[in-house]
Amino acid sequence: MDKTFVISFREYEGVSKLPAADRELLTAAADAAKGAYAPYSHFHVGAALRLADGTIVCGSNQENAAYPSGLCAERTAIFAASSQRPECRDFEAIAIIGVNERGERCEASPCGACRQVLSEYERNQGHPLRVVCYVAEDCVREYGCVADLLPFAFSL
Ligand code: THU
Repeated sequence: MDKTFVISFREYEGVSKLPAADRELLTAAADAAKGAYAPYSHFHVGAALRLADGTIVCGSNQENAAYPSGLCAERTAIFAASSQRPECRDFEAIAIIGVNERGERCEASPCGACRQVLSEYERNQGHPLRVVCYVAEDCVREYGCVADLLPFAFSL
């Protein structure tokens, strides 16, 4: 039997059009990108995670001369939150933004490994973790849950 998987997502015509809480989250992500350690790619990424209690925990990409040893902004943020606030391992949304070597804001869509990690926390908490991605000055994309970004995710 043939089956189809369809996802829905929302686009806003810029950061200023976002609901206030998500605007704040994306602004925190842009600020977090300043903490990136990216001497190899020169591509800075910031991620900001809103916990269920409203706290925002941020992360940025951290590279290494042994390339695979580096870590993306999204996992830096969620591992920081999970390790520092284990009692509040409940995530409402994550916002992500890239900044290129010219300082221009760029699209940053979570890589496959980050989707896998985010999906496990989403599955554990039993409710959606929204994903808000900067795409361009006139476009911010919101996905309602991580499962939409990683259908049929691996889990144990
Ligand atoms: N990167 C992230 O931090 N998040 C993403 O969603 C995509 C890629 C980082 C990894 C690497 O440090 C740099 O961006 C270039 O790939």
